[in-house]
Amino acid sequence: MDAYNITIVGGAGIVGREFLKILDQRQVPVARLRLLATARSAGKQLEFRGQQITIEETTPAAFTPDDHVVFLSASGSASKQYAPLAQQLGCFVVDDSSAYRQDPAVPLVIPEINPEDLEWHKGIVSQPNCTTTPMVMALNPIHKVNPLRRVIVSTYQAVAGAGGAAVDGLAAESRAALEGRHEPSGTQKREIAFNAVPQIDLFSDDGYTKEEIKMANETRKILHAPDVAVSATCVRIPTFFGHAMTVWAEFERPVAPEQARELVAAAPGVTLMDDPANEQYPTPMDAAGTDKVLVGRLRADSSNPGGITFWTVTDSIRKGAATNVVQVIEEAAKRNLIRR
Ligand SMILES: NC(=O)c1ccc[n+]([C@@H]2O[C@H](COP(=O)([O-])OP(=O)(O)OC[C@H]3O[C@@H](n4cnc5c(N)ncnc54)[C@H](OP(=O)(O)O)[C@@H]3O)[C@@H](O)[C@H]2O)c1
Repeated sequence: MDAYNITIVGGAGIVGREFLKILDQRQVPVARLRLLATARSAGKQLEFRGQQITIEETTPAAFTPDDHVVFLSASGSASKQYAPLAQQLGCFVVDDSSAYRQDPAVPLVIPEINPEDLEWHKGIVSQPNCTTTPMVMALNPIHKVNPLRRVIVSTYQAVAGAGGAAVDGLAAESRAALEGRHEPSGTQKREIAFNAVPQIDLFSDDGYTKEEIKMANETRKILHAPDVAVSATCVRIPTFFGHAMTVWAEFERPVAPEQARELVAAAPGVTLMDDPANEQYPTPMDAAGTDKVLVGRLRADSSNPGGITFWTVTDSIRKGAATNVVQVIEEAAKRNLIRR
């Protein structure tokens, strides 16, 4: 792979910092690295491959045609502001926010599922929500041989999915709670330590939250399956890293759990960890720090003959965010889709 100049907006964030680790772990060649953030982090330094990189403040003038790859990992509003600027300069922009996921002119890509969608990019590639990725990674191998019709999903999401401040918030709330005090950090909709909060993002008129609606829309776009019915309930729980979820799925034809297990076990990026006789199943701690989508508890749905149900866990910061972005860059480079 060629060495590109890579610029990260949100380079000081929890995803941005993990991205640097993954570039290193996957030995991605990098010609020049720039880290951008707000004035809060500007001037601070982060180490990359033995070099201290000084974080710069993000301004419209910060982008140049020399930034071959721009990874936007800050916020939806920052992406709306900066993605078109970088795009106009000819940069290959990968956006980790929800700003462009439903834009029909922007591919939404998981390299193990729909890498060919990169071919029609017009400068911006979007990447899915950290809950959508593991669910579709586990469903896609079955969907490819027996189209998906309907999904019900309930999530158990770690605080890391809400950024670095939310990780600090859970730690502080937990310490206070163990000393008998309730001190909500304000990083979730309710105090999160020793609690569970069934609201991630804002409610829409139909009673679903935006996080839940994202899971439905993104699943349809990535799987090229516009008619799939999805009902999600997204819940924040007091774990630090690793999103978990329970999925109930129905396909056009009945699926035997044994067949589903075989297909899932053979899928790239997915690991089956499913041995009830020996009480083997994945937990968020098993996924934290890894790039795997771990699947367990796969069985027939006793409420819906022919359907299946399973449990899956993934590190939201890694395959749910930074790892997928690195894979998108690798795949785009392989297909010669990044201008130099
Ligand atoms: N956490 C996850 O699991 C996850 C998964 C998928 C997608 N995402 C998405 O990834 C993005 C980053 O999330 P995160 O979890 O890394 O958040 P984070 O830990 O809060 O970090 C956010 C970073 O973005 C910078 N930033 C915020 N607003 C900015 C602006 N207007 N201009 C320039 N820089 C700005 C911050 O700068 P300062 O350092 O100066 O404050 C910080 O470096 C978000 O869009 C999020 O939705 C996150």
